[in-house]
Amino acid sequence: MTRTPDSPVTVTVTGAAGQIGYALLFRIASGQLLGPDVPVRLRLLEITPALGAAEGTAMELDDCAFPLLRGIDITDDPNVAFAGANVALLVGARPRTKGMERGDLLEANGGIFKPQGKAINDNAADDIKVLVVGNPANTNALIARAAAPDVPAERFTAMTRLDHNRALSQLAKKTGAAVGDIKKLTIWGNHSATQYPDVFHAEIAGKNAAEVVNDEKWLADEFIPTVAKRGAAIIEARGASSAASAANAAVDHVHSWVNGTPQGDWVSMGIPSDGSYGVPEGLISSYPVTCAGGSYEIVQGLTVNEFSRARIDASVQELAEEREAVRALGLV
Ligand code: NAD
Ligand code: LMR
Repeated sequence: MTRTPDSPVTVTVTGAAGQIGYALLFRIASGQLLGPDVPVRLRLLEITPALGAAEGTAMELDDCAFPLLRGIDITDDPNVAFAGANVALLVGARPRTKGMERGDLLEANGGIFKPQGKAINDNAADDIKVLVVGNPANTNALIARAAAPDVPAERFTAMTRLDHNRALSQLAKKTGAAVGDIKKLTIWGNHSATQYPDVFHAEIAGKNAAEVVNDEKWLADEFIPTVAKRGAAIIEARGASSAASAANAAVDHVHSWVNGTPQGDWVSMGIPSDGSYGVPEGLISSYPVTCAGGSYEIVQGLTVNEFSRARIDASVQELAEEREAVRALGLV
């Protein structure tokens, strides 16, 4: 991210007037996304009827007098929203409504992520980094990436950091460990109920997490479903999908990507597969990654036991089916 102290980093947020947007924008403007010394310029993209609400959020951002916030633009035109963007957070998506089949959902989101991918391709800065939050996040990222052939594929990522954080918390509760003592946890696959939170390489205060837990039944029957179905549980309890925790995870994802991961730990990101761990090339699947110098690398050389293999394969199979569905729609 090339900048001088006075040239702010341009961060574009789509769906800026939505729930996640409301929880996210203030954290970006306060410096939590990129760092406490990095000035930012915000670009808010919304659909036309929501521009007024986005204006209201911008007024509140002004009222916070954030020293790092160097300007806010609000638009309903993706070409304007992504002009010179260094970071793009694609949050706005078409939610699944009653009676809607998965294919209808993928098609409706194709109508959003294809033009946005093209607008990124045509207008963003050379160092653009994209995080797709809007669901189905992995496949929406695939659609956007396919529409942006001039942008290196690895710049399109999907969010599984919320799943990663959820897994950290559940494991901490079970073992009585502090969250900060847990390292090297992995989310594999899709941000959906098929995702696989893997503790077999995780460490708790330096000890192997699976050995500390020593309860495969708890892993299979409680831990994995609790993490994988947490989004639905939040919707059930709150009457709305997770927003503050999703915004927090988006901040974590980009912060790790830009500023690096600590020595001896890794994070989970949905990224275009290079074929590692048997995931078909090109699928946007969650992997364990380390980040340094603004890039990420898949953690290599992990042994995948039978328990893990079956679960990774099931989630990857779902991703492959989603890719087939959007291929049939001419979206990738
Ligand atoms: P929301 O409905 O409150 O807000 C979405 C906003 O997007 C709305 O303001 C809407 O006007 C806007 N929008 C719709 N189409 C747009 C377009 N073409 N361009 C720009 N803006 C557009 O929803 P939310 O709670 O903020 O959630 C947003 C998305 O994030 C949903 O798809 C949700 O399922 C997803 N989500 C993902 C994760 C994850 O871990 N990956 C977690 C939570 C939520
Ligand atoms: C979540 O994991 O909280 C969300 O992806 C749920 C959803 O469907 O918005």
